[in-house]
Amino acid sequence: GMNRNDLCWCGSGKKYKKCHEDFDERIASIRYDVIKGQVRPPRKIINNEADIAGIRRAAVINDAVLDLTETLDRAAHEYIVSHGGIPACLGFEGFPKSICTSINNVVCHGIPSTKDVLKEGDIINVDSTVNVDGYYADASRMYLIGKVPAAAELLVKVTKECMERGIAAARPWHFLGDVSAACGDWAHANGYSVVTALGGHGVGKDFHMEPYVPHEGEPGTGMLMVPGMVFTVEPMINAGDYDVTVDRTDGWTVRTKDGTLSAQWEKTILITETGAEVLSS
Ligand code: MF3
Ligand code: CO
Ligand code: CO
Repeated sequence: GMNRNDLCWCGSGKKYKKCHEDFDERIASIRYDVIKGQVRPPRKIINNEADIAGIRRAAVINDAVLDLTETLDRAAHEYIVSHGGIPACLGFEGFPKSICTSINNVVCHGIPSTKDVLKEGDIINVDSTVNVDGYYADASRMYLIGKVPAAAELLVKVTKECMERGIAAARPWHFLGDVSAACGDWAHANGYSVVTALGGHGVGKDFHMEPYVPHEGEPGTGMLMVPGMVFTVEPMINAGDYDVTVDRTDGWTVRTKDGTLSAQWEKTILITETGAEVLSS
């Protein structure tokens, strides 16, 4: 046993009598019912104040990791700035963050927030646009958080295929409606709807410029695609209805009206002499 004047077993540096003596006596005084599985806590799992302070320091970092969208935003901001870029979203028409993070039923323009703690089963779109030396590039991807329901995973996969089919249809001396149709037809063939309130856009010397790129439509319609044109293909595909709402409080977050899942992928492409080249993905 411990002498009352020994240093306490907990590592506090205090004398035992001033530290855990009463504590130990209290633990010893309790009857432990073996049938109920009642057991004494071993000393090695008791943390002293220095230990607890250490765990608190780790917890602060860990919570920031879990508050992932805010963390992503900070990481993105730091990366962009340190590479000589400007995060184009930050301050764009008052948008408050450097990237958009859109989770589950959020279609696009989700605002990174410490309140968005990602959980297993979520699907999230991360959308970044940077301005480097006056030129813009714009792209977004979906991420699956842990194990995701099969229906959500399929939506994400088909939405990527919609974008890829749209890009495959992008070639000079043909019309933009080819891209829209290729995109939308694949969504419809899979039983999904295409968001029409927002679309792709010319990008490069401006963030958003001509042409407007619908993600469903008729082949052979719209603007002629010619070499040197740069635009995004960024289908927003809903599991349910195409209709969307904009958050009345923040003025940005676009959600599916019916609450169903939505996915989006985005690339910036260049129309070349022979087809299309992906510039940002
Ligand atoms: N990057 C988005 C797009 O694909 C636009 C985001 S604008 C913002 O066009 F203000 F919400 F950031
Ligand atoms: Co875009
Ligand atoms: Co974008």
